[in-house]
Amino acid sequence: MTTHRDLEGRFAVVTGSTRGIGRAMAAALARQGCHVAVSARARADCEETARALAREHGVSALGWPCDVSDLQSVRALFAEVRDWCGGQLDVLVCNAGFPLRADIWNTPLHATPPEKLEDWYLGLFRTDTMGSVYATHEALPLFLARRRGSIIYVSSIPALAGFQGAPYTVAKAGILGLMKDVAAEYGRFNIRANALALGNIRTPATYDLLPEEIRQRFAAQAPLGRWGTPEEVGEAMLFLASDRSSFVTGQTLVVDGGIIRS
Ligand SMILES: NC(=O)c1ccc[n+]([C@@H]2O[C@H](COP(=O)([O-])OP(=O)(O)OC[C@H]3O[C@@H](n4cnc5c(N)ncnc54)[C@H](OP(=O)(O)O)[C@@H]3O)[C@@H](O)[C@H]2O)c1
Repeated sequence: MTTHRDLEGRFAVVTGSTRGIGRAMAAALARQGCHVAVSARARADCEETARALAREHGVSALGWPCDVSDLQSVRALFAEVRDWCGGQLDVLVCNAGFPLRADIWNTPLHATPPEKLEDWYLGLFRTDTMGSVYATHEALPLFLARRRGSIIYVSSIPALAGFQGAPYTVAKAGILGLMKDVAAEYGRFNIRANALALGNIRTPATYDLLPEEIRQRFAAQAPLGRWGTPEEVGEAMLFLASDRSSFVTGQTLVVDGGIIRS
């Protein structure tokens, strides 16, 4: 028996895809028959993840190291991607994010040492926001050549409602601005841009590092009363990546168990 796979034969790039949400999104794409380029900073992790996805889902998978905060590194990734997919890129997922750091996250603006301001704000902005700008810049010529493409940006609910981690909020809000501009400018070329605004998602970078009391407090923020899983984010991303959302662009899909209700 054959089963239909929504993204059979398509090609996607997912940044920051060796762990957590990015890895689950790469796996979700591969499960739908999509060939996937896996990327993060550690080369061995990229290669191992790509091998695993190819083996498990019967797709072609490229594993290539890239630091999204470095334009040359992103250009090198896309040079490789162009060859790998023969210019036939369909989907870009801008997921790579600056690692969660307790000092940056928990220090309110007035208490931030002045000598840290640039470092903290620009550090997050370089990875989350500029990383998304660089990847989009490199993917657009491929999308424009074929008059098609879907870009999914990974933002976060503080970008919509504010929270205590101001540098993170600023960077993630910048991503939403980028998403809207890309949607407005490139819609006429059948290139769509949407974002996921994520709530509390169980990953090694979040849940695994927190004490039980805080895990429970975060779970209780959501009407659904729990943390989300990377696989649930993968399902939401698949909708935006596939033709099922062919008339959806410029939107932010909130995946947070109901914390933000619009
Ligand atoms: N987990 C949550 O609750 C949550 C909530 C809202 C939004 N988000 C967003 O979701 C995304 C994924 O989060 P996660 O929890 O899955 O994080 P994670 O488990 O720490 O995974 C991050 C991934 O990105 C890679 N990465 C980190 N810095 C990078 C860089 N400069 N260039 C390229 N790759 C880089 C990491 O590999 P290397 O370290 O080897 O580079 C890893 O593959 C992030 O954008 C995050 O802000 C997460």
